[in-house]
Amino acid sequence: MTKRICLAGATGWAGSALARGIEKAEDLELVSAVSRSQAGKTLGEALGESGMNAPVFADASAALVQPADIFFDYTKPDAAKANILTALNAGCHVVVGTSGLSDEDYAQIDGVAKQAKRGVLAVGNFALTVVLLQKFAEMAAKFIPHWEIIDYAHSDKIDAPSGTARELANRLSTVGQSQLDVPLEKLHGPKESRGARLSGTQVHSVRLPGYVLSLDAIFGMHDQKLILRHEAGSSAEPYVDGALLAIRNVDRLVGVHRGLDTVMDF
Ligand SMILES: NC(=O)c1ccc[n+]([C@@H]2O[C@H](COP(=O)([O-])OP(=O)(O)OC[C@H]3O[C@@H](n4cnc5c(N)ncnc54)[C@H](OP(=O)(O)O)[C@@H]3O)[C@@H](O)[C@H]2O)c1
Repeated sequence: MTKRICLAGATGWAGSALARGIEKAEDLELVSAVSRSQAGKTLGEALGESGMNAPVFADASAALVQPADIFFDYTKPDAAKANILTALNAGCHVVVGTSGLSDEDYAQIDGVAKQAKRGVLAVGNFALTVVLLQKFAEMAAKFIPHWEIIDYAHSDKIDAPSGTARELANRLSTVGQSQLDVPLEKLHGPKESRGARLSGTQVHSVRLPGYVLSLDAIFGMHDQKLILRHEAGSSAEPYVDGALLAIRNVDRLVGVHRGLDTVMDF
């Protein structure tokens, strides 16, 4: 059966690549899109391409008047939470690609999703290489009690830490809390110099021109260390296959689940 998709952020860098991927998929149909600046057009008109006939709406509630099975959010953190709650109330399952939502946001969304008996799959990074890094980091954390995360991005990235870093910190918290040999309150100097403590991990965000998106998960032991590094390229293509996998499987879930491996076989 064809799954009907509403894609918020369909005119953006990540969303337009996904829209093209959905168009090519025979089992998926893009029935509506959300973009404030392109409302009133078809997505094809908005992207300057033929063949994408989904109408574009200014917000999620207007778009969801058109029935959809799955709502996908690729917007911005200040818009995403309201979009997700609107979509759950409209009876959709939801895939969240947007970064910047907090653990508290997801706890609230989880309650609404469970009540609605709908799935929410939130994935900080759909790239296969990041899913593998998450798995390797979880393995490392079982043996090495000291770790920190550094995320690097271009200077105009609005959210910090990145969705990838937040999700990794959240996942490592299921293994344990990273050990701090000097507690933050005993530190000489500004506490900020040790980064933010997120889900039991110190996370540092570098935002500079010249960077795209990369992340180091550093595990330190006496006289040795392990650095797991991910580097993104400049196109949005690596995210498309993972996002399609999430869309195809989110209706098997109830409540919030984080990470693409929720729907992958390892
Ligand atoms: N999970 C992953 O693997 C992954 C991969 C890439 C990006 N991301 C995340 O996905 C999000 C989008 O990234 P992007 O680079 O595609 O951004 P972008 O190019 O700026 O696109 C944002 C899209 O959202 C729309 N939008 C709708 N409501 C909005 C609002 N209230 N505020 C801002 N935009 C709104 C924009 O259209 P209008 O401006 O016309 O409304 C546009 O279509 C970011 O959070 C990014 O970190 C995640």
